[in-house]
Amino acid sequence: MKRRDMINCALCDNAPCDEACPYKLNPGEKLREIWLGGEHHAVSFLPETDACAACDALCEKACVRPGLVPIKGLITRLRNEVKPVITKEQLADESILQTDICGIPLENPFLLSSSVVGSNYDMCARAFEAGWAGVSFKTICNFDIHEASPRYSAITGGSSSIIGFKNIEQLSDHSVVENMKIFKELKRDYPNKFLMASIMGRDDEEWESLARLCEENGADAIELNFSCPNMMEGGLGSDIGQNPVFVERFTRAACRGVTIPVLAKLTPNVASMNEAAEAAKRGGA
Ligand SMILES: Cc1cc2nc3c(=O)[nH]c(=O)nc-3n(C[C@H](O)[C@H](O)[C@H](O)COP(=O)(O)O)c2cc1C
Ligand code: SF4
Repeated sequence: MKRRDMINCALCDNAPCDEACPYKLNPGEKLREIWLGGEHHAVSFLPETDACAACDALCEKACVRPGLVPIKGLITRLRNEVKPVITKEQLADESILQTDICGIPLENPFLLSSSVVGSNYDMCARAFEAGWAGVSFKTICNFDIHEASPRYSAITGGSSSIIGFKNIEQLSDHSVVENMKIFKELKRDYPNKFLMASIMGRDDEEWESLARLCEENGADAIELNFSCPNMMEGGLGSDIGQNPVFVERFTRAACRGVTIPVLAKLTPNVASMNEAAEAAKRGGA
């Protein structure tokens, strides 16, 4: 690509084309990257789908130099002509990182753990574009979650003085319907990224139906949250992980609902995790 094509963009402050792009491709940022010599970097943040193909080039209409920058054409060339070449080179270097989880291919072994960093579309999309191979999405449940704010509590020492703070965040406070919409959008836009659904039920029926719903909406695997130590209500999260009988029972219930792999996330707050791990395997994990 020729640098002179984006000479107008080099010093564009708060580029309106970035705001205007409905697919959040940040075209102005990418064009400036190329100007500064970072074609490689600009390419690495392009999504896998060709969003520009059906777009009315709202970026060009918003540009402060109307008609001078063929933004849509440049971004399309970046994706269709530059990206394939660079991707091949990168793959040659990075293929040693490829691995799999339960037979599902991963481009590298780096996944976001289920938590506050993977609780909506934008967070996951940004992580995928930065190179993460997948995410265990923030734990989904069928009951209302009321979080404290700020989400931490004090840990006191022997003399009641504060010696530290602990996270007390619970589960996703989005509804199941909202989370399923996010799953569909992530799978549509990032079909090759690994999407694991972390779930928590209160009884057999909830474990089974939540697992089924997640598979139907695009999850590649299910993670059973038998680990959260922060639940306000008893008998959930790490309470289950400490009881092998319940671990086996609820694992079996979740497995009934799906054909995809099921993983049990166990609490380490036990003398030995072996019993719970064996119970999860018996249940089908
Ligand atoms: C703020 C916060 C929220 C979390 N939420 C969840 C959750 O919803 N589900 C879950 O299985 N684990 C949750 N976790 C636990 C993380 O997934 C992870 O297992 C834990 O932080 C240990 O990894 P680390 O040592 O890298 O922090 C949460 C952790 C933090 C700090
Ligand atoms: S395309 Fe127009 S608005 Fe966008 S960065 Fe270039 S000059 Fe600025």
